[in-house]
Amino acid sequence: MSTIAIIGTGVIGAAWATGFLAAGHTVTAFDPAPGAEARLREQVSTFVGEAGAAAASAGGDSSTAAAATTPSSDELTFAPSLAEAVADADFVQENGPERLEVKQAMLAEIDAAAPASAVIASSTSGFSPSQLNAHATKAPGRIIVGHPFNPAHLVPLVEVVPSTGTSATVVDRALEVYRAIGKKPILVRAELPGHVANRLQAAMWQEAYSLVDRGVVSVTDIDTAISSGPGLRWAILGPLAQQSLSGGAGGMRHVLDHLGPPQEVWMHDLEQVHLGEDLKEKLISGVDEELDGRDPAVLAKQRDDMLLEIIALKRKYGELP
Ligand SMILES: NC(=O)c1ccc[n+]([C@@H]2O[C@H](COP(=O)([O-])OP(=O)(O)OC[C@H]3O[C@@H](n4cnc5c(N)ncnc54)[C@H](O)[C@@H]3O)[C@@H](O)[C@H]2O)c1
Repeated sequence: MSTIAIIGTGVIGAAWATGFLAAGHTVTAFDPAPGAEARLREQVSTFVGEAGAAAASAGGDSSTAAAATTPSSDELTFAPSLAEAVADADFVQENGPERLEVKQAMLAEIDAAAPASAVIASSTSGFSPSQLNAHATKAPGRIIVGHPFNPAHLVPLVEVVPSTGTSATVVDRALEVYRAIGKKPILVRAELPGHVANRLQAAMWQEAYSLVDRGVVSVTDIDTAISSGPGLRWAILGPLAQQSLSGGAGGMRHVLDHLGPPQEVWMHDLEQVHLGEDLKEKLISGVDEELDGRDPAVLAKQRDDMLLEIIALKRKYGELP
């Protein structure tokens, strides 16, 4: 059992707190917003219930299901200051606002106050560790990115991005900490805007926006093309392992030899888009038409309920490959 500091307890901080508590760690949190402690405790109770339900419906992991209770004050402490929250931490997860100067100041303060042995991870969606550690003076190399995916209490992916000053020991500790709470971390070996998963999404959004802009298909049809097509398979096998199955017994070699050349033609035909006002209007009105007044909160709940069942199914059948 380790002591985990959660700094910033909004949407993402609460999700991390839940994951660490459910795995049996002690969590010390800090957020300066009025009412933050009460909101965190309420949010953690909701998230823990959902995560426990997922484990129970998978028919396995009784320890996670058993942890599906509101954490006690011994397990979850709310500290009066950032420095006190990290003073005894083995691992710090920072989840403050996505503004570079704010994060740089928070991470410098965390670095100054945390024990020398602590690893410090930022949930940042887009900044690199070299940008984030700019004002840290004690041990800037231990500041890395640990980027989760929303809804972060359910989705297992975490992107771990070290800086050039990060030691292999820090990287290994981060990967180990995330794996131990049931996450699926990947190691990103270069500091790129948007890390990896958001870059992959951006590649798809670029083409989706372009096809809508050119009037090739409606927004609804773009969404159908993915959610009733390849998206169904991608939750089970990633796009590359999935592609290899299209080659039958010949596997990836056959697919690339056979379909690689036409695929290259499609790739070279993809267009860059500029997200100007006209295009934004087409996308906004297209989504409005598709959703037809549905309450986004209800839709998000339906998505999360289905996501829980997909995750439970993956546990039941075992991860592929
Ligand atoms: N929301 C997402 O979909 C998502 C997904 C992955 C990663 N992230 C990243 O996670 C981080 C947090 O995002 P969020 O959506 O939870 O935002 P949020 O606005 O819900 O939470 C941010 C919290 O930081 C707190 N905060 C402000 N100043 C602080 C300080 N000095 N010390 C401690 N806490 C402070 C705020 O009071 C707020 O509660 C961002 O870096 C974001 O890019 C967000």
